[in-house]
Amino acid sequence: MAENSHTVPWWQNGIIYQVYPRSFQDTNGDGIGDLNGILSRLDHFVHLGIDAIWIAPIYPSPMADFGYDVADHCAVDPIFGTLADFDRLVAAAQARGLRIILDFVPNHTSDRHPWFTESRVSRDSTKRDWYIWRDPGPDGGPPNNWLSEFGGPAWTFHPATGQYYYHAYLPQQPDLNWRNVDVRAAMLDVLRFWFERGVAGFRVDAIHHLFEDEQLRDNPSNPDWHDWMSPARRVLRTHTMDQPEVHAAIAEMRKVADAYGDRLMIGEAYLPFDRLMAYYGVDLTGFQLPFNFELIHTPWQPTAVAALVAAYEAALPQGAWPNWVLGNHDRARVASRLGPEQARVAAMLLLTLRGTPTIYQGEELGMENVPIPLDRVQDPWERNVPGFGRDPVRTPMPWTAEPGGGFTSGHPWLPLGADLATANAAAQEVDPRSMLALYRALLRLRRAEPALAIGKFFPVAATEEVFAYERRHGERRLLVVLNMSGERSEICVDEAVILLSTHLDREKEAVSRRLFLRPNEGCVAQL
Ligand code: NOJ
Repeated sequence: MAENSHTVPWWQNGIIYQVYPRSFQDTNGDGIGDLNGILSRLDHFVHLGIDAIWIAPIYPSPMADFGYDVADHCAVDPIFGTLADFDRLVAAAQARGLRIILDFVPNHTSDRHPWFTESRVSRDSTKRDWYIWRDPGPDGGPPNNWLSEFGGPAWTFHPATGQYYYHAYLPQQPDLNWRNVDVRAAMLDVLRFWFERGVAGFRVDAIHHLFEDEQLRDNPSNPDWHDWMSPARRVLRTHTMDQPEVHAAIAEMRKVADAYGDRLMIGEAYLPFDRLMAYYGVDLTGFQLPFNFELIHTPWQPTAVAALVAAYEAALPQGAWPNWVLGNHDRARVASRLGPEQARVAAMLLLTLRGTPTIYQGEELGMENVPIPLDRVQDPWERNVPGFGRDPVRTPMPWTAEPGGGFTSGHPWLPLGADLATANAAAQEVDPRSMLALYRALLRLRRAEPALAIGKFFPVAATEEVFAYERRHGERRLLVVLNMSGERSEICVDEAVILLSTHLDREKEAVSRRLFLRPNEGCVAQL
């Protein structure tokens, strides 16, 4: 049987939207978004046309890393609501045809998680081996030279028991010991807990950090380190990242997911393609979607992007399904990286490439990084290593022009952008050429055209200005032409009809021989 959008798994045909819950919608006036806020905005997702909402961590947490320091895996932090709110959200989302994906944080817990508080009581604690405790090095200092991602050593000394514990991130985020079978069993139970509540899948946090070298060998120094780079990059993470044992652990997670039917496991691993592909697992028994972050890092030039797509397609294991993202809550916003005009071209790229797209909240409004005054800094990374903080990409959604942006009636935990009066969802709602209108049109087109959702990909051209490719499904052939420059450009075609321009003003235009593009314009045309 030929593949069509009904015969492929939902997550191949679908579009994922990332919600950063602190900044999505507040309903109780505390300045922090909550689950009821997500519930109140289900229309936004439906009108946009997405399939699944991935919500960053909502679990009880001291919020040292804004939820990525989990103190209880099977509950909801009161800041976000209650388990009953969560159940209501899942049910209401399902009723609107939307799935909920949660964040699973297996690498570490909060230092206030009961497992860790028990672990640090004594060297004989039954939970001692649940974390990574080691004796000091010969000089009394840390056991080796491993560094924390957020600055400083990756080891913190615990005077009461005379040992160090390892943390890939903050000292408040001790790493779990995945070589301990009880840890594995307990963490797999966490997945079951949420699957039972109707969760459609997980985005698995920092998976490449899950294991470290058992012999604790020093990491080699990085010959390419420059002072503009994070201090953590002074050493190569040879012995702290992407260790071979990780794949068996992922396969165990996947097995749990598969026992519940069509659930989705997405992995967060910042790795080059030759390493990333292993995260699909042997015979595709790993993650269905190991996140592909390369559009965030690749220079925005047609030849570079074309080469990236070709390299990714070529590297994919047989039968593996691709995926693409433009940003997330850890990386500079796409509209700030590329500028507002090219952000529209990037949206067309994201939503016409072969592979599941994930949209980060606010991208559909063209949100940019918001400068954060010193006295409002929240991110611990910024405090440790100024310049590396992620607050600017995590600011609240601007829903309306009111003070608080319709996000909160109180004082927002991070400031909203200075352009709130014009750059808000309500204003874009009534502007037929807005970014929001473009995102909706692109999603509509992707949903209507199996060629875009699941069709084959064929590169056509990559010049100084233009990247062009075809998507084909059966007889249907769609040409995507992206002018990635500020100059006019053109491409040769026989006969074509434009279905969509990023300027939203050329629908149904027939072209023959040449398709002209205005500066910063992308088009999808039917051949
Ligand atoms: C990756 C998450 O996306 C990031 O926000 C977090 O700080 C680290 N993992 C640690 O959990």
